[in-house]
Amino acid sequence: MISLLIEKYAPPGNGLGFYQDKAVFVPQTVVGDEVLVTVEKEKKRYIIGRLEEVVKPGSKRRQLPCSHYAECGGCDLLQLSYSDQLELKKEMLVQVLAGAGIQAAVNMVAAPSEFYYRHRVLFRRDRQSGEFGFLRRRSHQVAVVPDCLILAQVMKSLLAKLTALPMLPKKMTACYGLASAAGNFAAAAEIGRKYQAIPGISETVSENYGFGDLELAASGFAQANPAITRLMISELMKNCVDACEVAELYGGSGTFSLPLATIAGNLTVYESDPAAASRGRRNAARNGLENVRMVSGRVEKKSLPKALDTLVVDPPRSGLQPVIIEKMVKSRASRLIYISCNPATLARDLARLEAFDNGFVLDSLKAYDMYAGTTHLEVMAVLKR
Ligand SMILES: C[S@@+](CC[C@H](N)C(=O)[O-])C[C@H]1O[C@@H](n2cnc3c(N)ncnc32)[C@H](O)[C@@H]1O
Repeated sequence: MISLLIEKYAPPGNGLGFYQDKAVFVPQTVVGDEVLVTVEKEKKRYIIGRLEEVVKPGSKRRQLPCSHYAECGGCDLLQLSYSDQLELKKEMLVQVLAGAGIQAAVNMVAAPSEFYYRHRVLFRRDRQSGEFGFLRRRSHQVAVVPDCLILAQVMKSLLAKLTALPMLPKKMTACYGLASAAGNFAAAAEIGRKYQAIPGISETVSENYGFGDLELAASGFAQANPAITRLMISELMKNCVDACEVAELYGGSGTFSLPLATIAGNLTVYESDPAAASRGRRNAARNGLENVRMVSGRVEKKSLPKALDTLVVDPPRSGLQPVIIEKMVKSRASRLIYISCNPATLARDLARLEAFDNGFVLDSLKAYDMYAGTTHLEVMAVLKR
């Protein structure tokens, strides 16, 4: 066991102390904490520690609101008040951007609700008991958390329904759950590497972010926090108000496409998952949006429309491939809205986009607290030539 003082934070929000000249990263700590830590992983220059005991709390440590916090890997920042969480997330984002040479004023948008916000989640299933929960921190074991603080109440109804189903396949290792803001839920079982419907539970929900009905599948991508998604849509609309020819890369089933289609003359949406692209097509048709063209397949292999003024991208955590960046820079678009769930790849890509002659330069940036209680956030960056 190591005894140390948490001196500062390191991205994405772990406490950082030093032991015999080695950096020790300790999740779930605050600056000023004197802690006892066990070594989970040791490398030449650093250690990843597990918090065992807070000997003396730092001044910003609050009473933990969740009794499962130490065992469950779902949250990382519950030891801080909500305003301190926001402050820390902002500081971490600024640090990550600065590391890539990007200086930015970060405007942080708080979640309307700190708790009970999460409408999409991957439940893991305990092999022995068959119960559903979340992975323990740095482990493959499952923590069962029936009174989870961040899950929307409707997701607890889904959990109860799953638990009551008599004949779930033994090989089901996980389950994607999705709930609409209106309170309907859907689920998909993970069996092997495939997703299957669960008899008695819908595979899809109908969501409405204010731009028509949107069918979303539990097995496909969907945003996790409807309240924050609405705020992001409204900001996206403001930034695209005079857009005419728009390309949306990584469009999913149309969360951002439906609103964009109401202002764009033409909208071309690229999505690699054929099921999501088909749903996107149906979602546009159902809402009478005739100006949307859904292109199914990896965007790396597709060409962008010739006449283009606005690009909107919302890539997975891995960010943008260099080939996509090149395509976007060569396009005629004068504006790029980059929505990101990973500050590290966003920072890398912003630097790459800027490095071209007549590349895209960061104009403004807002960070949205889509996942309160955790180190995760969503960022919307607006870039101009
Ligand atoms: C972060 S999600 C965003 C989806 C959508 N914007 C939304 O909010 O629902 C990223 C999406 O990109 C898709 N995707 C991943 N790699 C892709 C690629 N190379 N080309 C096109 N789409 C891709 C995924 O299937 C997923 O739907």
